[in-house]
Amino acid sequence: MAENNIDWASMSFSYKPTDFNVRCTFKDGQWGPIEVSDSEYIPMHISAACLHYGQESFEGLKAFRGKDGKIRVFRPEENAKRFIRSAEGIGMEPMPEELFLEMVRNVVELNERWVPPYGVDASLYIRPFEIGITPLLGVRPATEYMVVMLVSPVGAYFKNGFKPTKVCMSREYDRVAPKGTGSIKVGGNYAASIVAGERAHNLGYSVMLYLDPKEKKYLDECGAANFFAIKDNTYITPASDSILPSITNMSLKQIAEDLGIKVDARPIPFEELETFEEASACGTAAVCSPICQIDDLDTGKVYTFGSPDQAGPLTTKLYNRLRAIQNGDVEDTHGWNMIIG
Ligand code: PLP
Ligand code: COI
Repeated sequence: MAENNIDWASMSFSYKPTDFNVRCTFKDGQWGPIEVSDSEYIPMHISAACLHYGQESFEGLKAFRGKDGKIRVFRPEENAKRFIRSAEGIGMEPMPEELFLEMVRNVVELNERWVPPYGVDASLYIRPFEIGITPLLGVRPATEYMVVMLVSPVGAYFKNGFKPTKVCMSREYDRVAPKGTGSIKVGGNYAASIVAGERAHNLGYSVMLYLDPKEKKYLDECGAANFFAIKDNTYITPASDSILPSITNMSLKQIAEDLGIKVDARPIPFEELETFEEASACGTAAVCSPICQIDDLDTGKVYTFGSPDQAGPLTTKLYNRLRAIQNGDVEDTHGWNMIIG
């Protein structure tokens, strides 16, 4: 068993060994039993489909410990549904929703001591992934698949947590094609984003903001997070076929409505950045990561939003309500949490 003397309050978003992962294999046309493993390795054929042709998809969701001691997993049904869409999008066997949810419950229960305590800004990140494991040489779908769920306690993904950071944009890079795999969560999209992401990091930015890959006119998303902005008491977020439908963004839209903030999801021409009062990235890992500045690397144009030291008022309100629901501090009126323990 791994050591558990963690400084919960100053954790980064990185892999830490825990006690167990759970696995399930699809073979001979059916899913087998859920297996519990304490190994951090997968024995695999050197010609497995995932190693050569990228038959891999993944998910990310979080478990939080409440003041009442209960553990809450945020909207796992939505991850289960997206996991199915991702599998179908690259010709893999979709895992039934109930089996996905059972695996989530098992992996959290088995690693309960790794769920950070209430009151520190940390959570247990759950990372399900599916891989094609059939040995292949020609490009075609595998017939055998493995789903693994691992967990890791994590802190903030963007380096400043809920403090504003700077972001850059450039027309030099696309992470997905216009009618490609942008709306599903497959490893290949992330491989395609690594060079651009490293350029952003090396220049001191937290992330690359992508424009739509077809026309380079509209805002798409922020690396591994969606984008939203605030203007005139309105939550504005891109509608695009080439971005991942974010469960956090979907939740923030609902929370905005609950708080009396208007919601406007539509294509956003990048010139409109000029008019925004607040801007933020959002996602499971990113939660809300406020953006104080976007630099256009191609034109030298700089867009600024509010204070560089503090998130804007509506972003703060939305973030606080989302975190309160996840922690069980306010009533979960939409039935979003799966409660464990
Ligand atoms: N966009 C991309 C490309 C992502 O990888 C993620 C992370 O999952 C998101 C957006 C945010 O989605 P969610 O809120 O469902 O985590
Ligand atoms: C998430 O927010 O869960 C993600 O998958 C982001 C990840 C690529 C770090």
